[in-house]
Amino acid sequence: MNASFDPQSPYDLPPLPPHSVILETLPVLKACVEARAALAALNEAVARLPNPDVLLSSLVLLEAKASSEVENIVTTTDRLFQFDGQHEDKADSATKETLRYRLALFEGLNMLKTRPLTTTLAEAVCTHTKGVEMTVRKVSGTALVNDRTQQTIYTPPEGEANLREKLANWERFCHAQPGDAQHAGNLDPLVRMAALHYQFEAIHPFTDGNGRTGRILNLLFLVEQGLLAHPVLFLSRYILANRSAYYAALLAVTREQAWEHWLLYMLEGVRETSRWTYQKIKALEQQMGLATDYLRSKSPRLYSYELVQVVFQRPYCRISDVAGALQVQRQAASRYLKEMCALKILREVEFGREKLFVHPHLMALLASEVHEPSPYGE
Ligand SMILES: Nc1ncnc2c1ncn2[C@@H]1O[C@H](COP(=O)(O)OP(=O)(O)O)[C@@H](O)[C@H]1O
Ligand SMILES: [Mg+2]
Repeated sequence: MNASFDPQSPYDLPPLPPHSVILETLPVLKACVEARAALAALNEAVARLPNPDVLLSSLVLLEAKASSEVENIVTTTDRLFQFDGQHEDKADSATKETLRYRLALFEGLNMLKTRPLTTTLAEAVCTHTKGVEMTVRKVSGTALVNDRTQQTIYTPPEGEANLREKLANWERFCHAQPGDAQHAGNLDPLVRMAALHYQFEAIHPFTDGNGRTGRILNLLFLVEQGLLAHPVLFLSRYILANRSAYYAALLAVTREQAWEHWLLYMLEGVRETSRWTYQKIKALEQQMGLATDYLRSKSPRLYSYELVQVVFQRPYCRISDVAGALQVQRQAASRYLKEMCALKILREVEFGREKLFVHPHLMALLASEVHEPSPYGE
């Protein structure tokens, strides 16, 4: 037990790496090897895709949905894709907030091209997620409270200078080099990611948005470390499915230095969701192959590579999407989409005053826990 921990008063969070704790125990290393292998397989599968952007935005939207849901911001996959890219301001607040999450992830990724992971980058990610300017907390009063019992579970450290100092240590641990204190730079990047995630959540630098920002930072860290070329890992799926274990494992690090338990939780999350995402990508590729074969055989005149790509990039397709992707007039784009409806690849739906063309096979595959493509024309 940690004698200095009192849920009601600001916690004096120790810096990383934790003092006199071995992070890379044998069980951790074993789990790490498996997680690394699964993640590498996913990364290679994405690298082999002829056009990763086609599937990327959908996969990232699934991550955005689950991560927001961890914070009780709940929307549906259909609403997300319907509002994706247009009329976002007219969406309900949960849908808007979830779409903002994806934007925050992409903005963070963009920033990462010119600068490393820093407190400033975390502030920018939180700002995009929340849709209002967010900076490191200046006032006290932030605490984690149990929704049901209203009991305070954890009170994070406070005082802007203090928080910034802890974040500076967090930054150093992100970029630790082999020669650094306690060999922090020799730790496996996945072990570091897990330790960094605990630390970020325990610092709890913002008045809100810490969970979502921290989960975006996980993916950005994997990209920065070169473990993932695209932020496709659906890690929040695991966290959402094992949410109470997530809270309990975070708290147990604070209360009893239960690092091994926390690291194993996160490594299992990486392993499981790497496989899940890998299988999902394989199934999406197969679905794309089925669409190509079907369209070619039923209507060789209508078929084009770009047309198949765009109805996979946009599960709810607009006439303007097709016009843009194929460089054709609206009239022609509209005709193509209607022909796709006649072939039962797409289905026309009213959306306000607009027409959308949903791709039911793709939506079913994206929303499902099963990774089975389904044949067209049945
Ligand atoms: N005991 C704990 N110690 C540290 N962090 C915690 C603990 N329990 C939960 N958290 C983190 O706090 C997050 C919620 O913080 P919050 O600022 O409300 O994030 P968001 O606005 O994204 O909902 C959780 O998702 C989790 O990552
Ligand atoms: Mg919150």
